Amino acid sequence: YSMEAAQKVLDGKSYKWFMHKELHEVPRKIKEQIMMPQEDLDSFVKTILEAERIFITAAGTAFYAALAGKFLISNFGGPYVEAILCSEFIDTLPNMPENSVVIAVSQSGETADTIEAIRYAREKHGAKICSIVNVVGSSLTRYSDEVIITTAGLEIAVASQKAYCTQVSALTLIALRIAELKETYSVEEIKKFRDALLKTVDIAENILIEEGKIREIGEKISNETNIYFLARGISTSAALEGALKLKEIAYIHTEAYAAGESKHGPIALIEEGFPCIFIAPPDATYSRLIGNIMEMKSRGAKIISVVADFDENVTEISDYTIRIPIENNKYAIATSIVPFVLTLQLMAYFVSDFKGLDPDKPKNLAKSVTVK
Ligand code: AGP
Repeated sequence: YSMEAAQKVLDGKSYKWFMHKELHEVPRKIKEQIMMPQEDLDSFVKTILEAERIFITAAGTAFYAALAGKFLISNFGGPYVEAILCSEFIDTLPNMPENSVVIAVSQSGETADTIEAIRYAREKHGAKICSIVNVVGSSLTRYSDEVIITTAGLEIAVASQKAYCTQVSALTLIALRIAELKETYSVEEIKKFRDALLKTVDIAENILIEEGKIREIGEKISNETNIYFLARGISTSAALEGALKLKEIAYIHTEAYAAGESKHGPIALIEEGFPCIFIAPPDATYSRLIGNIMEMKSRGAKIISVVADFDENVTEISDYTIRIPIENNKYAIATSIVPFVLTLQLMAYFVSDFKGLDPDKPKNLAKSVTVK
């Protein structure tokens, strides 16, 4: 009974791949994150709110968590946050405004691009650094003024999933704390959002119990060679992460972009059966997204949509739907990004496994890119 096999056991069940086991850890890990002591958030959020300008930076999957964080902070009435890829940070910001804060998101805390970006911001422009990191004592924590350690624990699969989920849960808590301090919502409303956030633990649990439905859809798209991931608003960050996962562990060429962009060019690629995956939560963008789905459908695209389980309109025009068990209220909808992305990460895992690939160690990839 090898050490590795032992590490793939969770609650007495042994998993074929680390990635599958780690996806099944998500409910307990986001619960731990959401239950983190409020005072640990306070100095982090206080530093953010004192800034003139707020930037958020990361690489890869962590950047898609950062992008979700940008939307969460503004959706909950917080200040504008500019999201910049860490490898683009220095070229994008030859000058930085006085009194800037940079939020850095990183699983390993060792990503060379991320560390280069925040050292530049700190040492050249006196910016304060607030980091969300999964590894205690990693380099990034040493260059930070404030640190939130995520609760994902050791993530062995190269493709990040439980770390992403705890990063976004932490960013949701930060957005809620900012809303509380800026009194964007009443105390009662903030409590309802926080209760809804806590319910994402049960939602994630239900998604995993019903994961067979996600595997079925995954198998249907496993021989595709090109797939669009389309969404609007905060869900564009989910589309980007879903697309990256299929690239990195199933080796399928995918492209994610804002659904409203389709008619400005990308729709030229659409022909009979071209698969388009839409992330369609019933939020403020929903009705406009329906228009984007119809644009693709009328040109023969195969429509696969990820919707709330009470959805009707998008379901009606989709070839396949994956349903997310969220409640039909604004609190549940505003805190549902992790369940939607967990679904896409599970789908990518099933496609990789179905194609006989190794989802834990994808070719050409390293768990932490410590070289520039
Ligand atoms: C995640 O699935 C990828 N393997 C990779 O993009 C990763 O997210 C990126 O390299 C950033 O790593 P970090 O979170 O450790 O900084």
